[in-house]
Amino acid sequence: MPEDFTTRESVAEVYRRRAAWYDVTANLYYLIGFRERAYRRRAVELLGLRPGDTIVEIGCGTGLNFPLLQQEIGPEGRIIGVDLSPEMLERARQRVHRYAWTNVELVRSSAADYGFPARVDGILSTFALTLEPEYDAVVANGARALAAGRRWVVLDLRLPENWLRHLAPLLVFLVRPFAVSLKTADRHPWESIASHLADTTYEEAYFGLIYIAAGTARRAPKRSG
Ligand SMILES: C[S@@+](CC[C@H](N)C(=O)[O-])C[C@H]1O[C@@H](n2cnc3c(N)ncnc32)[C@H](O)[C@@H]1O
Repeated sequence: MPEDFTTRESVAEVYRRRAAWYDVTANLYYLIGFRERAYRRRAVELLGLRPGDTIVEIGCGTGLNFPLLQQEIGPEGRIIGVDLSPEMLERARQRVHRYAWTNVELVRSSAADYGFPARVDGILSTFALTLEPEYDAVVANGARALAAGRRWVVLDLRLPENWLRHLAPLLVFLVRPFAVSLKTADRHPWESIASHLADTTYEEAYFGLIYIAAGTARRAPKRSG
């Protein structure tokens, strides 16, 4: 039976082996028209960040989003990068060192075990949340931690609803090096965004294989009396 990557241990093992070449291999998908950087930029845009904000990135990997986030929050802001894999975090640490950023904290934790700080200004997860078995609880925890009016944004892969769905085994095979399987493709984090947040938006790209779901933390009801 091929590995279906439904456990965190199996995912961590994939990224232990992938970490050294992650940035290079992720870029190879450009060859098949996958505009990864454009999708990342759109996801960060949807966060609506401001200078000085604190942003949590779940499954931050090697920190490919950090330069985009830094542009929005500036040196007064703070990035908290959370990831399961020590090897991916080591690559992120090297990036932080290379750019001499002093406002990035890296946390080794599964998304499910991570305790979000109160009143964060944004939460982002790109190509990672589907890999967490308890993704719905993670979205709910994050939604509670967000400051009122601030945004949770998920960019990830999904099986499309269109004719391409018939090619599901082939599509999954193409991204198998990143711990995607037909089983994990059954997870639907965009539905969690829709159920735990307000003013949600959903957009797709790349033939419906990419989605960006975003939502706003609900304002706490005013106390009466
Ligand atoms: C495809 S990489 C994406 C990395 C980065 N977000 C990016 O867009 O380049 C998936 C990342 O999610 C992390 N990851 C997978 N399952 C996780 C979990 N349950 N909790 C936290 N991180 C997880 C992996 O270690 C890996 O770094």
